[in-house]
Amino acid sequence: MSKRDDIFALLLQADGFFSGQELSARVGISRAGVWKHIKALQAEGYTIEAVRNRGYRLLPNGVRQQEVEAYLQTEWLGRAYRYLPEVGSTNIEAKNWAEDGAPNGAVVMADLQNQGRGRLGRAWSSPSGTGIWFSLVLRPRLEPSLAPQISLATAVGVCAGLQQLGYAAGIKWPNDIYIDGRKVCGMLTEMHGSMESVEWVVVGIGVNCLNRELPEEVKDVAISLAIARPELPVVRAQVAAVIFQHLEKYYNMLYEQGFAEIRRQWLANNITLGKRVRISTLNETFYGQALDMQEDGSLLVKKEGGDEFSLVTGDVFFA
Ligand code: BTN
Repeated sequence: MSKRDDIFALLLQADGFFSGQELSARVGISRAGVWKHIKALQAEGYTIEAVRNRGYRLLPNGVRQQEVEAYLQTEWLGRAYRYLPEVGSTNIEAKNWAEDGAPNGAVVMADLQNQGRGRLGRAWSSPSGTGIWFSLVLRPRLEPSLAPQISLATAVGVCAGLQQLGYAAGIKWPNDIYIDGRKVCGMLTEMHGSMESVEWVVVGIGVNCLNRELPEEVKDVAISLAIARPELPVVRAQVAAVIFQHLEKYYNMLYEQGFAEIRRQWLANNITLGKRVRISTLNETFYGQALDMQEDGSLLVKKEGGDEFSLVTGDVFFA
């Protein structure tokens, strides 16, 4: 652990104020050094009060490992954990770690991504102090053709986690999570392996939590937990831990029982089927009615005035 982590751990454990003098003695650096780290933690988005003659007091609202572990009830998911105050994209960090042998269930969490990536090459806004931006390394025993099942199980897990926290979350095909008709969470799944077996899957998940304002271009279609239910307190570390717990549950279910039960859960929580939709693929755009999510994870759509169509990749908009 770095000196900054040591200071953070002491403040986190303290029940109230911690004097600068004691911090400096415990960590083994000067009081000016302590102050430098306090400033850096504040710049990361932590609220740390500094009061003359009393010292420092932390009001935790971050996503460092100690904070998430305080709520964590998983066996294997999120137990190996890397926290980065700022990063380009957690997916890239997680892929590098996967190549270096990250264990199944390892998590890379960032407070801020300066190059957060969304599906289909889009950007994903990930400001500091507002969301949970993380990527998960999985090493499933699955044929590559079954990888979409991981994405669908992920959607079921995140949706169940948010529901447990009190939000009326639903799933838009394939794995966007919506509240009140607007997107609160997106996922970006990447995998590596041979034709026969998957070596690792990186699942990147972004949940808008405390954002009071969203970027202009997505303002009408996106939402955060704080906007959805302003009366509920949002503790990012708790949101992360609850989501980890439900992800672990549904991945275990997928590995032990196969896809049928995941599909049932997906269907029970979806907000897509039965709706009129506009579909946009690489080749065409058309309107139709979403009919079913099939055994292979594709979306069955009845084209307006036409045939049925199985959508494997593309965008679905409510029309
Ligand atoms: C989408 O709906 O377009 C997918 C958004 C995925 C965003 C998450 S945030 C954590 C991880 N790191 C990234 O760069 N992207 C994913």
